[in-house]
Amino acid sequence: MLEEKIKQLKEETIKKISEVANLEQLRELEIYFLGRKGELTKILRTLGDLSIEERAKAGDLANKIKNELTLEIQKARQNLGEKTDGSSEKEWIDVTAVKEKEEFGHLHPISIVQYELEDIFTSMGFMVLDGPELESDYYNFEALNIPSWHPARDMQDTFYVEGENLLMRTQTSSMQVRAMEKYGAPLRVVVPGRCFRNEATDVRHEHTFYQLEGFMVGKDISVANLKAVLEVVAKKLYGDDTKVKLRPKFYPFVEPGINGEVTCFLCKGKGCRVCKNTGWLEIFGAGLIHPNVLKFGKIDSKKWSGFAFGFGLTRLAMLKYEIDDVRLLCGGDLRFLKQF
Ligand code: DAH
Repeated sequence: MLEEKIKQLKEETIKKISEVANLEQLRELEIYFLGRKGELTKILRTLGDLSIEERAKAGDLANKIKNELTLEIQKARQNLGEKTDGSSEKEWIDVTAVKEKEEFGHLHPISIVQYELEDIFTSMGFMVLDGPELESDYYNFEALNIPSWHPARDMQDTFYVEGENLLMRTQTSSMQVRAMEKYGAPLRVVVPGRCFRNEATDVRHEHTFYQLEGFMVGKDISVANLKAVLEVVAKKLYGDDTKVKLRPKFYPFVEPGINGEVTCFLCKGKGCRVCKNTGWLEIFGAGLIHPNVLKFGKIDSKKWSGFAFGFGLTRLAMLKYEIDDVRLLCGGDLRFLKQF
């Protein structure tokens, strides 16, 4: 009976070996039949029930068959391409082959400028926050002192989303009141991020662009603090001889509102094509946070004051790399992107 079983197993194994298609299957087969927990071992475990004579006979047979099968598997292995040293034909390496050039990814020009600014601001104790791109009318406008009837809404052509009072944020300033609500005063925050406006696109306008918003709330914060911080930033970005010029401009969420310019990094103020011969580059809007905005953020404007500013990240990247068409930045054209 037992001999019968052993012979059957041999037959079965030989048949299976002939059907095997690759080394991996062969290895599985070997484990299944000859492994420590394999079929042959299972049969040999039952030897104990036999008489000594029968046991010796069956044991001999089992060993013989085990050797035969091991040999068969060895042969099959060679046929399937494994060399005697254990390596495989398939692993053959042509050491003279020329390797194709590897392509590495790299940062997008806007990310480069963004990370550079984040580094400068975090070194001054600002935290970096992210905010929703699909924003409520409340945080994007209302809480920034721009009620629905206010003509300032016309400054920003907005993508409104049907129902729900939602819109695609037109400015990263939308994070001001969110951050105030969450962290209270004192506060130092920058918010880089994507903004959207319903623009007719041309070389200078794009419906999707990037800004970096910043604000600080503390005791006795004035325009002097704003200027000091932005001067550090401008010098780090464009060199120690860079100056910052502040001029009045209206923004509903600051009072006074400021238009910020820095010395042109290319001509150092002499006048060139980058600065349109003015010697200055307009790169940020700013001001002292309006008391109404602090109130929306649940911060007592009698105790605290603050400044805010907004950089056009897209514009900074365009200036830095002398990119003359804004549409290239988000156009996904590799011929353009590979240059950075
Ligand atoms: N959010 C303004 C814009 O998109 C830029 C800006 C102006 C941000 C003045 C500010 C600010 O924080 O104080 O045009």
